Amino acid sequence: MAAQTEIETGLPAWAYTDPDFFALERAKLFASSWQIVCHESDIAKRGAYATLNFLGALAFVIRGDDGVIRAFQNVCRHRAARLLDDPFGQCSSRIVCPYHAWTYDLGGRLVGVPGQD
Ligand code: FES
Repeated sequence: MAAQTEIETGLPAWAYTDPDFFALERAKLFASSWQIVCHESDIAKRGAYATLNFLGALAFVIRGDDGVIRAFQNVCRHRAARLLDDPFGQCSSRIVCPYHAWTYDLGGRLVGVPGQD
């Protein structure tokens, strides 16, 4: 009979609660790999988006005017307010920050700053 290995028995119980082990997982495993936000069919229309809160990092993906899906940090470049709150949603042709209404096009370009003058 073969001896059991760690792979056969799973991680030891401490690995699920140890903060140092979690920090190691964040740095070496999660942060260095691709993350799935949604299936592309979930954001099929122009302006459709999905958000992601991944270990405290806020991001969203959105389908642009050209049909391309792009990913952005989900924070306004003005004062870092969260731009999009819902897990899924639909923008018109612009993303408007709820705080001071700085406005971005679907390609992520800043296109409006109220009171800029
Ligand atoms: S934080 Fe977004 S417009 Fe001020």
